[in-house]
Amino acid sequence: MMSELSTPLDAKALPPSNLPAYDEHHKAKHRLLEEYMKVWLAKLAQSYPQVAIVDGFASAGRYQDGRVGSPLVFLEAYLTHAARERFKAPPHFVFIEARLDFAQHLRWEIDQIPDLPGARVDLIHGEYEDAFPRAVQWLRRHYAGSALPTFAFVDPRGYQKTPSSSLRDYRASLGRTAESMVYVPTDFMARFVGTTITETALDRLFGARDVWEQVRDEAQPGAEASARLAEAYAQALRSEYRWVSRFAVDPASRNRYYLFFGTDSIEGLKAMKSAYWKVDPEDGRGYRQDLRASAGQFGLFDPVAEAPRAPEEDLRALIGAHFGTDEFSIEDAELLALTETGFRETHVRTMALKPAFDAGELIVTNQAARRRGTFPAGTTMRFANRT
Ligand SMILES: C[S@@+](CC[C@H](N)C(=O)[O-])C[C@H]1O[C@@H](n2cnc3c(N)ncnc32)[C@H](O)[C@@H]1O
Repeated sequence: MMSELSTPLDAKALPPSNLPAYDEHHKAKHRLLEEYMKVWLAKLAQSYPQVAIVDGFASAGRYQDGRVGSPLVFLEAYLTHAARERFKAPPHFVFIEARLDFAQHLRWEIDQIPDLPGARVDLIHGEYEDAFPRAVQWLRRHYAGSALPTFAFVDPRGYQKTPSSSLRDYRASLGRTAESMVYVPTDFMARFVGTTITETALDRLFGARDVWEQVRDEAQPGAEASARLAEAYAQALRSEYRWVSRFAVDPASRNRYYLFFGTDSIEGLKAMKSAYWKVDPEDGRGYRQDLRASAGQFGLFDPVAEAPRAPEEDLRALIGAHFGTDEFSIEDAELLALTETGFRETHVRTMALKPAFDAGELIVTNQAARRRGTFPAGTTMRFANRT
C-alpha cells in the first residue's frame, strides 16, 4: 500500500556490480537499527494508533554482496517482529532516495517482498532537503489528532545536505514522540573546518556560525577538532531533544563518524544504549573496524592495532565524583549513568555499587528489607569518603 507521497517509479533491478559496495562498518549501523527497532516497535506500535519510520537517505536497499541496506532493515524489523500481531496498526514507512537507479532498485526490492502485512510503504525519488519536509507535513496532516511516534534516519555520506532546520521543523511538526538518528562525519569536517569552502554547509548543519568558528579558532586540527565538533553537534541537538547520545564508528579509512540520537523518551535512550552495548560489548561507545582484518594482513607492529580509544571510564569513580559524600538514591545513580556517562543504567549495581559496598566504601542509609548489597528500588546511600 502506498500514498500520493510516493513517486511513480519503474521497478528496475540493478546488476549487483552497480549496487553500492558494503563496508564492514555498515554492519554496526545496521545492527544498531535492528536492535533499536525491536524495542521501539514493541513499545510504540503496541501503544499508539500509528507509528512512522522515515529513511531520508535510503540508497538502493541492497549492497553488491547481497547484504541489505537500511530500508530493508526497517522493513525486516517489522516483518519479523515477535509482537507484530499486537501492533495497533502497521507502521508507515517513508523512504527517500535521490539517485533514480537506486530508487528504482529499491522499488524492485520492495516489490519482491511477498507480503507487507498492511504496511504503507512510500518511496520518494527526490532530494532529502525537499522531500523530507514534504513527507513530514504529509504525515502531520494525515495523522492529525494523535501523537505519531516517528523515527527519522538521516544517513547522508557527507554533511552538506542535512541542515539543522529540517530536523527542527520535523520536531515542531510531529512533536515530542519524534526521534532521529543522524550521521555526522566529524573527522572529515575537522579537515575542512578552517577553509572557506564549507562555511555555508557548516552554518546550515549547526544552524549557527559561532559554534564551529569557536572550534576552528581554539582546537588543534585533527582529532581534537573532530571531538570538539562532535560535542558541538551534540549540544546543538540538545536544544531540540531532551536526551542526546552518540555512537562512534571508526571505519578502516579512519574517517570517524558519529551516529547521533535524539529523543525525549528516557525509555528510548535506555533502548538505544542497550543497542550500543550489543554492538560494542567492550564499552558501548563505538565500533572500531579492525584495519588488519579488513586489509587481510596481520602486521605485528601495525600502529592501527592500537586503535585510538578513550581510556575506559570507571563507573564507580564517576558516581563518586558526582555525588561526593552526599546521599543519593539508586534511581539518581541510574539516571546519572544513563544520561551522563557511556554506561547503561543496568551497570550501576554490578559495576559500581556492589564493588564499592563490598570494599566498605559505600554506606547504605536506607534500604527496603531485602538482602544487603542488592540495592532495591528506593535504596539511598552515600560514599564514606570523597573519591
Ligand atoms: C550513505 S548512503 C545511505 C545508506 C543507507 N542509509 C543504508 O544504511 O543502507 C547515502 C545515499 O543517499 C543518497 N543521496 C545523496 N544525496 C541525497 C539527497 N540530497 N537526498 C536524498 N538522497 C541522497 C545517495 O544516492 C546514497 O544512496
